[in-house]
Amino acid sequence: MKILKTTKELIDYRKSFTCSVGFVPTMGALHHGHISLIKEALKNNEKTIVSIFVNPTQFLAGEDFESYPNRYEADVKICELAGVDVLFMPTKDEIYFKDEPNILAPMKQSYILEGYQRPKHFDGVLQVVLKLLNLTKPTNAYFGKKDAQQLFLIQNMVKTLFLDTNIVPCEIVRDEYGLALSSRNTYLDDKEKKEALKLSKSLKIASQEIMRGELETEYIKVTMREILAPLHVEYIEAVDRKFNKIENIELKNSIILVATKVGKTRLIDNIWI
Ligand code: PAF
Repeated sequence: MKILKTTKELIDYRKSFTCSVGFVPTMGALHHGHISLIKEALKNNEKTIVSIFVNPTQFLAGEDFESYPNRYEADVKICELAGVDVLFMPTKDEIYFKDEPNILAPMKQSYILEGYQRPKHFDGVLQVVLKLLNLTKPTNAYFGKKDAQQLFLIQNMVKTLFLDTNIVPCEIVRDEYGLALSSRNTYLDDKEKKEALKLSKSLKIASQEIMRGELETEYIKVTMREILAPLHVEYIEAVDRKFNKIENIELKNSIILVATKVGKTRLIDNIWI
């Protein structure tokens, strides 16, 4: 596995690939969710590039940028054992310039839900993903459905900026108890981990209610809120697959999303209906 730290190295090395290239962008602290993306990339492409870059522009002041879990040695081992061809680990100065064009995520879908709680977060996500896609020029790039709004906005960017990459959505990976895997789960103590299970439980009950024919969003939200109590709920929402809020669940075209605080840790989860 080649470990590349500069954009020049990556651009030069990428030129030697004339085959299909899979790309998995990450912020490190790799877990089985990331590994499932890497496996998909390895299975469906001749070469696989993984990036590890904790992107400062997608963190708001007061968020966990400084303390974001850092597991570089373990991450390198994971990528090596998995069979990744290139691991790109740039510094901030490699990626960002003093003065550069800013990307603004579309107003409508990036200022609701995650974007409402974390204004400008998606500007930073799109800015870095665009740079990484331009650097790696992947045939396929892999993103988890757990960050459903991020996935939608990236698909939208790729389409509207005519980028030549296929975005591949990948299933949410959960632990044996149902907790959606996230690098931020490492912040949870044992008691909080138990509390955190309420997110997936609320989504499971919601999907059971929907299968029983309860399609009204408001009813689903109330049901979920009861299960999540007394956690601090930031939002529970139902959207269609284009991220328009909906009053009634549409089968095969809806996503139900939840964001809560468990202790000091912010957790998100969702289910695609
Ligand atoms: O989902 C993430 O880990 C990040 O938002 C991404 C896509 C790597 C961009 O920094």
